[in-house]
Amino acid sequence: KVKHVILSGGVGSRLWPLSRKTKPKQYLDLFSGKSLFQLCVERNDFLNPKVIVVGNSENYQLSREILTKLGVEDYFEVIEAMPKNTAPAIAFAALMSEPDDILLVTPSDHLIENEVLYQKSVYKAIELAKNNKLVTFGIIPSRADTAYGYIEANGEDVVRFREKPAKELAEEFLANGNFLWNSGMFCFKASAFLEELNMYQSEMVDTVKNAIVSMKGGFLDKTSNSMIPSISVDYAVMEKSHNIAVVHSEFRWSDMGSFDALADHLAEKKELELDANGNFAIGCNRFISFVGVSNVILVETPDAILVLDKDSSQDVKLLFEKLDKED
Ligand code: GDD
Ligand code: MG
Repeated sequence: KVKHVILSGGVGSRLWPLSRKTKPKQYLDLFSGKSLFQLCVERNDFLNPKVIVVGNSENYQLSREILTKLGVEDYFEVIEAMPKNTAPAIAFAALMSEPDDILLVTPSDHLIENEVLYQKSVYKAIELAKNNKLVTFGIIPSRADTAYGYIEANGEDVVRFREKPAKELAEEFLANGNFLWNSGMFCFKASAFLEELNMYQSEMVDTVKNAIVSMKGGFLDKTSNSMIPSISVDYAVMEKSHNIAVVHSEFRWSDMGSFDALADHLAEKKELELDANGNFAIGCNRFISFVGVSNVILVETPDAILVLDKDSSQDVKLLFEKLDKED
């Protein structure tokens, strides 16, 4: 039996002011009227899986609304009281499953095109996972992006996994030619994942087990949630494990993390119009024109306006963090 584990605890800080803590980017209906969360559920429907959503107290209802709308009945929500990153989120799902259950873990905020190739990759991953491998999905890299993990592949075997390398190292990886981007999706048996997690993060396993004991209706209790160490699965397990495999994925994949990626996608789909100098506005219902500027992104919401140089798209995160502190 395959379980689809949806990680949905992120706030989408680089898409502020569109993305808010109370309505993060994965719930915004930006993609032909659908949200990334909905697309994520629909894309994995072919497995007829039990769904486990690991989200938080500010967004669990948004997940529930979408699952209900799609008629998904076989789901469970783990509702974190505070974010502890992806390793604990996955540990919850693994510890609440049978040892032989195969978990397909996916972020809720990616865009994937070509469903047929996607399904082919997932079937391959499931086969490898049956042989107790921790399976990653490798994407052919197109630039030395430091926001991703890099997988050194030798066929299906992974020589090493390096999370978010510095620029020089990312450039070396790209030049080398044997490296793939880590898509952030994983597939493994619950028991295979827990074995490795126990080896490298035994304290996390204990604290997550404790939190499960005091969980009520999916809600984690604040005190036991706070005891869990915060670390991503990439650093906690993938960089350390010697048991990783990779599926060379051919589908089109993008992490809709920032306005430059979103702009390029929406323009390609003709859902948004860029002017001759690459300027565009999002969410703005008034007449707007750009004069003497290029690559400017203007974002308007009822209570905030963002004016952004497209090349500074990653820096919106810093602004979000500053505003969050002042809150
Ligand atoms: N439940 C829960 N709790 N979910 C979380 C938490 C948390 O504390 N933190 C993050 N998530 C969710 C996010 O909503 C997202 O769907 C997913 O987990 C991945 O987290 P990100 O914070 O977006 O990770 P990243 O983009 O920096 O890096 C990961 O993804 C890259 C590809 O997009 C890594 O796996 C990289 O190696 C990978 O290249
Ligand atoms: Mg991400």
